[in-house]
Amino acid sequence: MKKTFLDLGMQPLANNFSTKYISPSFRLKVKFDTNSKLVMINKHVKKEKMFNKSYPYRSSKSKLVEKLFRELSKKIKEKFKPKNILEIGCNDGTFASNFNKRNITCIEPCGDVAVEAKKKGLKVYVEYFDDLLVKKLKKDHKKFDMIFSANTITHISDINSVFLNVAKILSDNGTFIVEEPSLLETIKKNSYDQFYNEHIYVFSTIALQNILKKNDLEIYDVENIKVHGGSNRYYIKKIKNKKIKISQSFKKNFILEKKFGLHKFSCYKNFSKKIKSSKLKLIELFKKLKRNNKRIIGYGASAKAVTIINYCNLKEDYFDYFYDTTKQKIGKFLPGTKIKVLKYKKLKNNKIYVFLGAWNFYKEIINKENYFYDNSGKFITHIPYPRIITK
Ligand code: TMP
Repeated sequence: MKKTFLDLGMQPLANNFSTKYISPSFRLKVKFDTNSKLVMINKHVKKEKMFNKSYPYRSSKSKLVEKLFRELSKKIKEKFKPKNILEIGCNDGTFASNFNKRNITCIEPCGDVAVEAKKKGLKVYVEYFDDLLVKKLKKDHKKFDMIFSANTITHISDINSVFLNVAKILSDNGTFIVEEPSLLETIKKNSYDQFYNEHIYVFSTIALQNILKKNDLEIYDVENIKVHGGSNRYYIKKIKNKKIKISQSFKKNFILEKKFGLHKFSCYKNFSKKIKSSKLKLIELFKKLKRNNKRIIGYGASAKAVTIINYCNLKEDYFDYFYDTTKQKIGKFLPGTKIKVLKYKKLKNNKIYVFLGAWNFYKEIINKENYFYDNSGKFITHIPYPRIITK
């Protein structure tokens, strides 16, 4: 049974940056499936509406993402020595370009992003990962001994068919690596902004293992990584592959989640209460700043920022503008608002309050904005609770 625990109000498509004002178009709610323990949003938008030619997100925009992908690639080459790698959702090729181009095949349905990956010399299928493509992959390639996917699997509505298809093209001794935001970290940090139309699911280790097992796959190791506000990197194998043992780290993560109650609805009801309170506190903080005639701008026009700003209704009356480094977002409105996204400039004016839309890159931002931060510049965040950060 699916039980709703969170209502994030009217939301727009979180990556629908446009020069025209786009009004919020659907009500976003979050549910818990008492059987599979999976947490998911209520609204499954058609994939063609979300992932198309003009998709604005670029993995290469974050130094942390680049670094983690580089380190993982090195580990994969040394430990697994794969001959035939597949990446599902390669974005602009930030991960795949660490490998010999002959050894890796990429899938990326978003046209303009795929062009950027192709420019790096990568072989890219500009298609969705579905039954049709899997048939084609089986014909064009032998099985893959390594399949990698970061922040893509939770974007696909028919999750069972994804794993069924992976099982078809993964060699019997192969490993499937999946990186996704961690539900435990989401709950601990009160980062309700992980929920938006593209994040159809946010995985716990418990739920992911349940679904994988239905498709003859299982997690055998888990690494906790710092990216996207706290993610898990899951190492997955075929159940019938008995050569690989289940790691202590997997067991530790599983037990930790159970202790936290991620398998029980009461945990999510409690989370929902905290989110309502977080919203009221953030609104109060913004109102107070405005009463004192302070100027506020946003830093990082992330999809997460879109969820927060629409949920808390903190729109153009509060923000002067947002800064972002992504070409595809600049000059457009933040979805659901009339707040303009401007081309990023180094922060100079320490009288302006800066809301961290990309709070998950806080350390990277503080390093970059050392002048602002060292000169009493003030950041606003809602993670783990609404507050102002100064040095
Ligand atoms: P994400 O949280 O979905 O990765 O999105 C982060 C957004 O923030 C993305 O549009 C890039 C932007 N950004 C900046 O503009 N400056 C920065 O220093 C960082 C780290 C991100």
